[in-house]
Amino acid sequence: MGLNCRWLVNAGLLALPIAITLAVLFGLQAGREAVGKPPLFVDNGIKRTQYCQKAFGIHPESRGLEYTLNPNQWGWSEGEPGGLCINVTSFNNQTYATKSTAPEFSVTWEYPPGPLTQPVHAFPNIKVESTEFPVRVRDLESISIDVEWTYGVGNRTASTTDEDELAEHEVNTNVAIDMFLDSNKKKAKDSTKASYELMVWLAAIGPATHPIGLKQGAMATEIINGITFSLYVGRNSLKQNVLTWVASETVEKFNADLTPLVQRVLSGTGSYYPLDSDYVGYMGLGSEAYHSNTAVTFHVPQLAIDVQRSS
Ligand SMILES: *[C@@H]1O[C@H](CO)[C@@H](O)[C@H](O)[C@H]1NC(C)=O
Ligand SMILES: *[C@@H]1O[C@H](CO)[C@@H](O)[C@H](O)[C@H]1NC(C)=O
Ligand SMILES: *[C@@H]1O[C@H](CO)[C@@H](O)[C@H](O)[C@H]1NC(C)=O
Repeated sequence: MGLNCRWLVNAGLLALPIAITLAVLFGLQAGREAVGKPPLFVDNGIKRTQYCQKAFGIHPESRGLEYTLNPNQWGWSEGEPGGLCINVTSFNNQTYATKSTAPEFSVTWEYPPGPLTQPVHAFPNIKVESTEFPVRVRDLESISIDVEWTYGVGNRTASTTDEDELAEHEVNTNVAIDMFLDSNKKKAKDSTKASYELMVWLAAIGPATHPIGLKQGAMATEIINGITFSLYVGRNSLKQNVLTWVASETVEKFNADLTPLVQRVLSGTGSYYPLDSDYVGYMGLGSEAYHSNTAVTFHVPQLAIDVQRSS
């Protein structure tokens, strides 16, 4: 589809320079504010950058809550057909609409169908770097999310999601909020080591797109903002317990507190379910890219995630 992959750099090499750059910037900024000088970055320019790398994260600096975008093409290798690019709109003044607003972004991708054993090619996502994490479930006051998204055929952003057109192009994908939990603080922050993955699917597009545990049927239902969510439960290949709340309809605008969905899974019995003493350490929003016969674009013009702990 002509998406070029220019950023073929190893993730390990870049993680460190990003952290160092941030520390240097924060240090500088703090110093200038302390002596009453104007901040270094005052221009209100808008930057639109495209990234097409396989894996390493993109971290637009922010004076509010920080976010990291990750292409996360874990089921795809360089040279194989398909790929994705992420476009990020960042502000030079590092000041977004609210303290918890994320930069606008879009993901354009295309992959052929994968094997049944591994149908997902990528989970491009944006992760919130909340300082409240890790937080014990019982200490959670609220996990608010305010999101608007669209999915459209082609390499431009769609104003609304046309599900018939997506079906014509055999688009299989979802839109998911993703959280990880564990009894260990460190593991709770690690999406591969945490014992529990708790997802909230705002859309399941295409017949190949279904949650782990679908066959066993829904274990519970919960209504949030008038939308019914059904809970599916199972284990993934990393032996993580995967709890997925799937919306009964496509929800393109969602402004809600997710705490009831987290609280509700605590009442499940057995090893699949977390405890209220476990920690939530990780939260993001993204789209699992299964396959499509043409380029499709996932657009997130509005996102704010706000995690509060009870004092
Ligand atoms: C986007 O789509 C247009 C029209 O289909 C095409 O000419 C162009 O090459 C595509 N660009 C990318 C980056 O895929
Ligand atoms: C920062 O820049 C953005 C984009 O130009 C602008 O909308 C916003 O008002 C600016 N914020 C401040 C505090 O200057
Ligand atoms: C992403 O950025 C590229 C390069 O600027 C542009 O060609 C493409 O149209 C953008 N895609 C979207 C969905 O805005």
